[in-house]
Amino acid sequence: MNPRVSLVDAGYRGVVRPLLFASHHGDPESVHEQMIGTLARFSRSPGLVAAAKLLAGSRGVPTTVAGIDFPGRVGLAAGMDKDGRAVLAWQALGFGFAELGTVTAQAQPGNDKPRVFRLRTSKALINRMGFNNAGAERLHRELSLLGVYRGNGGAGIPIGISIGKTKIVPVADAVDDYLASLDLVIPHADYVAINVSSPNTPGLRSLQDGGALLTLLKALVERAAGRAPLFVKIAPDLTEPQIDEVLAAATDAGVAGLIATNTTLSRDGIDPAEQSLAGEAGGLSGAPLTVRAREVVGYLVRHTDLPVIAAGGIMTADDASAMFDLGAPLVQLYTGFIYAGPALPARINALTRRNP
Ligand SMILES: Cc1cc2nc3c(=O)[nH]c(=O)nc-3n(C[C@H](O)[C@H](O)[C@H](O)COP(=O)(O)O)c2cc1C
Repeated sequence: MNPRVSLVDAGYRGVVRPLLFASHHGDPESVHEQMIGTLARFSRSPGLVAAAKLLAGSRGVPTTVAGIDFPGRVGLAAGMDKDGRAVLAWQALGFGFAELGTVTAQAQPGNDKPRVFRLRTSKALINRMGFNNAGAERLHRELSLLGVYRGNGGAGIPIGISIGKTKIVPVADAVDDYLASLDLVIPHADYVAINVSSPNTPGLRSLQDGGALLTLLKALVERAAGRAPLFVKIAPDLTEPQIDEVLAAATDAGVAGLIATNTTLSRDGIDPAEQSLAGEAGGLSGAPLTVRAREVVGYLVRHTDLPVIAAGGIMTADDASAMFDLGAPLVQLYTGFIYAGPALPARINALTRRNP
């Protein structure tokens, strides 16, 4: 292994992860907040970010997808940095792009805590955050202050921004709610992800149904007016006929691509020792999702020419490789990054350099 990667890896596994997992009685959300807080401070020191990128950052292999030049093929998945607090830090951790959000038009607190559960033996998480976020307006202000605008490389890597529906807005009024978010984030987004697949906002996933999805996507594509490409993020729990409906709507509306997948409602693949947590409501991510996410990505690639960004249970470089082999040009990490740390993007970058 590259000595830089093994140093980062040993540091994360030996020191950072045990400290993070042990603190606050290991409550995963407090740990997450602590990590984002640290990265947010780091992100505000441009000199430090540049030095870290130079010393420890791993280089990916550049690729162009939907007209965007990505310096590497592994990105940060939505939900990790919802409010863009650590936006400049992600480039130094080996990511070739980062998806901020999901933000909603109105700021909202999300569900009651606890709302994230760690299933360590299963290498998984269950979360029912419910789009806790400071709102699209706040993200717009944060990115304006940092000078991060579409196409200007202000974050060192392309930035995607994920938008979703405000909880208190009825599903029937979802279009205007998404449009309000789109208007605020589009100046800053290299791409915009339309999240219709979180299991934690009541009724949200019904927006994946053909008719409703077509109406929503048409309105968003029209408003985007070619300024930034739009990607639709889908659930792993769709049947093949439902995926066909999504593809028809995505193609008709003229979106640029798909992101597959979000978390699952299934509880398959949880270790028997952790069955007591299987009853927690929310979306399951991590290793139990690996196979299903691959099936969905494979199906999509076989049935559309639109590019597919693969997410879901990518826990190792081999898992990323399987997604690339299926035809996904880009991958994203969430749970795998929590368990493995910055060594995972570094390993995936190393693999793409050996095997471009
Ligand atoms: C705590 C948590 C919060 C998440 N929040 C969002 C979100 O706001 N928007 C979104 O599109 N996906 C969100 N996700 C889903 C991830 O982006 C990803 O699609 C999913 O977890 C599968 O990938 P993984 O197995 O690598 O975690 C979240 C996942 C977790 C674990």
